[in-house]
Amino acid sequence: MVAEPAEVEVVTTYLQLRSRDQLHAAALDDPELLLLEAREPSVAFYRFLYDAVGREYTWTERLRWSDERLAAHLARPAVTVLVLYLRGSPAGYVELDAESAEAGEAGTEIVYFGLFPAFHGRGLGKHLLSLGVARAFDDGAARVWLHTCTLDGPHALANYRARGFVPYKTTIHQERVGAHS
Ligand SMILES: CC(C)(COP(=O)(O)OP(=O)(O)OC[C@H]1O[C@@H](n2cnc3c(N)ncnc32)[C@H](O)[C@@H]1OP(=O)(O)O)[C@@H](O)C(=O)NCCC(=O)NCCS
Repeated sequence: MVAEPAEVEVVTTYLQLRSRDQLHAAALDDPELLLLEAREPSVAFYRFLYDAVGREYTWTERLRWSDERLAAHLARPAVTVLVLYLRGSPAGYVELDAESAEAGEAGTEIVYFGLFPAFHGRGLGKHLLSLGVARAFDDGAARVWLHTCTLDGPHALANYRARGFVPYKTTIHQERVGAHS
């Protein structure tokens, strides 16, 4: 028997850093870590990153995008995909969008951010977030913002707060688990 998807209450928190000075950077000094920009990554590679990070957190929206839609999105100059490698293997990624359609005011959105499960809990999240935010400001962001919700990883919000992000809006909605982006 297939279980019915459950309706759950989802709390979404919007956070922002208004200047680089507010960033509590915590990058690791580890020669085994490498951050590379994936310029126009293949759709297959992007889907691999998205699924590997988000599968346990019901990230599904981008998996429903066609190859054409995803390729066109990734080719936009405003989109930056940074991939973290540990000893030569991908461990996580961050996706920045300097012209996010969701933005109420100018700023760069951290659209997706996370690590593959095997890499959680050893400082790589704060490392990747610090480098991603620095890149956004290097590229001229007026502010860096994002939203995270209660379906994301249990330490996602704490990681943003610890890096200096300040909450500025909260929304609550009902969602069928399995339909999350
Ligand atoms: C959220 C995520 C990136 C954190 O990365 P991580 O490598 O596990 O975390 P780190 O070890 O670098 O710790 C970073 C911060 O997270 C918080 N944190 C991490 N582990 C924690 C724990 N066990 N208990 C409490 N806080 C914790 C802390 O605030 C910590 O910062 P601090 O040490 O300066 O206080 C990672 O767990 C992840 O990819 N989760 C799944 C995807 C996701 O939820 N992405 C965010 C979507 S918006």
